[in-house]
Amino acid sequence: MTFTGGVLVRAVELFCGAGGMSRGLIDAGVEMVRAYDAWPVAVENYRANIGPHAEVADLTNLLSIVPEISRLAPDLICGGPPCQDYSLAGRRQEGENASLTIAFAIAVTAVRPEWFLMENVVQAARSEAWAEARAMLERAGYGLSESRVTASLYGVPQNRRRFFVIGRLGERNGFLQSAVAGAASAQPMTLRDFFGSAVSDAVYFPARSQERRSVWSSDEPAPTIRERSIRPVPEAYRPHPADAALLENGFVYTRPLRDGRGVRTIDEPITTITRTSWERPTPRYLNDPHPDDPISASATAVLTVDQISRVQGFPADWHWIAKAKRDKLQMIANAVPAPVAKALGKVILARHRGHTAPAIEGRFLDWLQRGGRKRTTARNVKANVNRARRLLHGKSFADIAIELGALDAVVDFAALPRNTRSDLRQALILYAEFEAWKTSRPKRRGPTAAVAVPVEIILDDDLAKAA
Ligand SMILES: C[S@@+](CC[C@H](N)C(=O)[O-])C[C@H]1O[C@@H](n2cnc3c(N)ncnc32)[C@H](O)[C@@H]1O
Repeated sequence: MTFTGGVLVRAVELFCGAGGMSRGLIDAGVEMVRAYDAWPVAVENYRANIGPHAEVADLTNLLSIVPEISRLAPDLICGGPPCQDYSLAGRRQEGENASLTIAFAIAVTAVRPEWFLMENVVQAARSEAWAEARAMLERAGYGLSESRVTASLYGVPQNRRRFFVIGRLGERNGFLQSAVAGAASAQPMTLRDFFGSAVSDAVYFPARSQERRSVWSSDEPAPTIRERSIRPVPEAYRPHPADAALLENGFVYTRPLRDGRGVRTIDEPITTITRTSWERPTPRYLNDPHPDDPISASATAVLTVDQISRVQGFPADWHWIAKAKRDKLQMIANAVPAPVAKALGKVILARHRGHTAPAIEGRFLDWLQRGGRKRTTARNVKANVNRARRLLHGKSFADIAIELGALDAVVDFAALPRNTRSDLRQALILYAEFEAWKTSRPKRRGPTAAVAVPVEIILDDDLAKAA
């Protein structure tokens, strides 16, 4: 029996914007075959930077695109439906935009790719629209893994928090949460981490004329390289003057969200990037600053639009096409930072290829012991769940009967002694009972809260050893 699709995951993106999510998924190794957005400016930018497969389409008219997506038969549908209706700045009333979350779910259930990945603001997790979309996706047979992700733990120096749902046909709910948590770094990325590394990359091409500069950032197209033209960078040189100025200043101002601080040091992540992140402090803010601001906002740096684009994960050589600065900032602020999408793409690909398995929750051991088992027996049961999961290439099944049937169909399982097979089956049954017990208990948080679970990633090497 085969559980993994091909090595390559082919994806279609809905609501693609200028391509932040696509950029990251491609970097992870996903093949993007089509992308749709209703905004021609965003599609133009997507095409200029990612590829010609983006099209202008109004996704309220699903009949016009679902047949086409079905023909493409993607392994993954991804997208971040518009979120103004949920965001704190918005009206808090679910309207037309919220219904596009349902449009996303309808497209997924109609096309039935093996995987989907949806991004939204964290407030969407408790919305009526997501509750409806969620029920629809579960009825269609998707197991859901819901996580609240902080971008500064996934490769950009930004406190942006977003709600990500990853779905896979036939899985148990929560099947990927430990892997998503495991992909986070231990420390948040700071502005100094980010821009400090950016300033070191400079290349010295001595110019032939005094009029021309001799030092180029490695992030920009260099002039024609002549023989022996690359020399050490002079000590005095400061590439990316704006980055150097930011590092030197040490403090940065961004318009506060939800009455938070306006001023941050460069030794912390910046607040969520918005369309206004480039604005200098207003007289109103200067007259009534946040009490916790470490210095006066008037003495701080603000990010340039180029820096905002990079902090939002767009590569330094990204080419923005927009007549209005407002449009450019809107596309930037809308995006999923590419490093975040890349991290999640890698998590999906690793599971798709059977290189990781869901973590077994620590409480399972307690539950087994409370059921009268000795600690060593409980540990053996846990080890057997892990072993069975490895044989199943990391896939968990919402239905225990299907899970046992799938295990029986694995050639390596069939080759095991009878007692061992019986122990592995029994271990899976016990784990399914434990999960049913867990979900039957009253929830402490809302139904859509993503609970951080202990991280247990099985890497390729471990799987190879276990095979
Ligand atoms: C949150 S942004 C997505 C950004 C994208 N995920 C990225 O990483 O760059 C939402 C996008 O939905 C698009 N949109 C809004 N209404 C739409 C509709 N009816 N049909 C298609 N796209 C729509 C907007 O133009 C916007 O680009």
